[in-house]
Formats: sequence, structure tokens, C-alpha cells
Amino acid sequence: MDVMAWARLLVEGATLQDKLTPISNAAPMGSWSAYPLPQTPGRPDKLAFSSEKTKFPKGQQLATKIGRSTAIHSFANHELLAIEMMAAALLVYPHDESDPATIRMKRGLISTIRDEQKHLALYLERLRDDGVEFGDYPMNGFFWRQMEKLPTAASFFALMALTFESANLDFSLLYEKAFRDLGDAKTADLLRSVYEDEVTHVALGAHWLGQWRGDKSLWDYYREVLPYPLTPARAKGADYLPETRVAAGLDRDWVERLGEFKDEFQVVNRRSWNQT
Ligand SMILES: [Fe+2]
Ligand SMILES: [Fe+2]
Repeated sequence: MDVMAWARLLVEGATLQDKLTPISNAAPMGSWSAYPLPQTPGRPDKLAFSSEKTKFPKGQQLATKIGRSTAIHSFANHELLAIEMMAAALLVYPHDESDPATIRMKRGLISTIRDEQKHLALYLERLRDDGVEFGDYPMNGFFWRQMEKLPTAASFFALMALTFESANLDFSLLYEKAFRDLGDAKTADLLRSVYEDEVTHVALGAHWLGQWRGDKSLWDYYREVLPYPLTPARAKGADYLPETRVAAGLDRDWVERLGEFKDEFQVVNRRSWNQT
């Protein structure tokens, strides 16, 4: 199986086994041809997108079976979406053997997808400890719906690596601490290993945007290619941990500007809510 056939299986396959299909390092890339992005990825019915909202558990709730499994189910959902979106990126953006940078970019995505598959499998195993199956809670499709707004590989890395995975650097450490404080070392250790891989995923995006930014600063280029209406507010968690972004190879200017960034839209709207 070449990489293009594998990527199609990850996007379109209708079973969880399809999404977890491994690939060898030596697999040939296969030739690229235009790929129409499906409206939704292939999924078994149990994992279909739902508009139902789940309330995210907090504090002591994470020590209960339902609280812990709700949190882990949500993390697993993000891993599955990352697999499908990165596989879609392999298909949607062109590569050409005569342009080795496009091949290197895709090889980077392949190794990231393998990490996401490992994370998904680990979270599913942890859910089983609580007797919960994937799809027992609603599956949110917000991340996938951003895919159609990403015309270039630069916009993809801006959204996936420098926004969603960047925020996950904060969230994974926050929840690692929360579970460790509650005495759940097994879940805490899992979050720590996800964090360590996530640093390399953010670094991949930082590397490629750095290659493509020309004479613009990384921050300006990132803002330019990040699709509307998403803003850098989504690139950080409740507590921003700037040193994790430095560890991921982002430059000081980017790290500081993200720290200073306030979403004007949210600030304005919060003010008007307060008045009513
Ligand atoms: Fe992951
Ligand atoms: Fe990741």
C-alpha cells in the first residue's frame, strides 16, 4: 500500500481498525492527483458527528468514573480527528518527486499521524478500564469542519499545529497535573507522553511555516494564513505555558505575541454581555 492509498483508508475507512492502520517507513508515496475533500470522514455509525454538547468535567469530577471517562473520550475524539485531518492533508495538498520539500513535508505528517494513532489506542485502552466504548458519548466534529477553509499546506499547519496542537501543550500539562493531584498516575502518565509527542508536532508546523514565511515574521505569516474566523486565542489553553512553545521551536516574538493576544471579538462581546 502506498501513502496515498493509506491516507484514503484513514479518511474514508468506515471502521476504527481502518483509522488505526499502520504504515511502514519505507512505503512509497504514490502519485498525487486532486482530491475532493469529503464533507465528513468515513465513520461507523457509533462514531458519527453529533451536535450534542458534552459538559467538560472539572476538579473533583475528574476523580469519578463518569468524569474521567468523559475527559478521556474527548481527548480520544481529538486524536481521531487529528488522524483524519492529517491524512486529508496528505491527499489534498500536492506533492511532486521533483520538489523534495513537498515529500519531506508529507513524511513529517506521516510520522505525526503514527503518533496520533498511538495516542488514540492508548486513550481507548484507558476508556475500557472504565467500561466505556468509543462513541458512548457524543462525537464533536468542529475540528473537521475547519478543513474546507484551508486552501494551502501553510494554512493547514497554522490551524492544526500552531493553533490546535499548540493549545494542547497547555491542556495536556494542565490535565496531567489535575489527574496526578487526584492520585490517577496512569492517566497522568498518558497525558505526559502525549505532551512529549505534541511538542514535536507543533515543531513540525513551526518548521514549515518558518520555511514558507519569506521576509515576514512568523507571527505575521501565521496570522495571515490562519483561516477566518479562528484567531490565536484558540492557540492557548486556560493557563498559557510559554516555555512549552519555546521547546517546540517557536521564536520568542511568536511566543510573546501569543501571550499578549486578546481576542477583540470575545472582549467586545463579553463586555456587552456584562451590561445586560
Ligand atoms: Fe495526539
Ligand atoms: Fe498531535
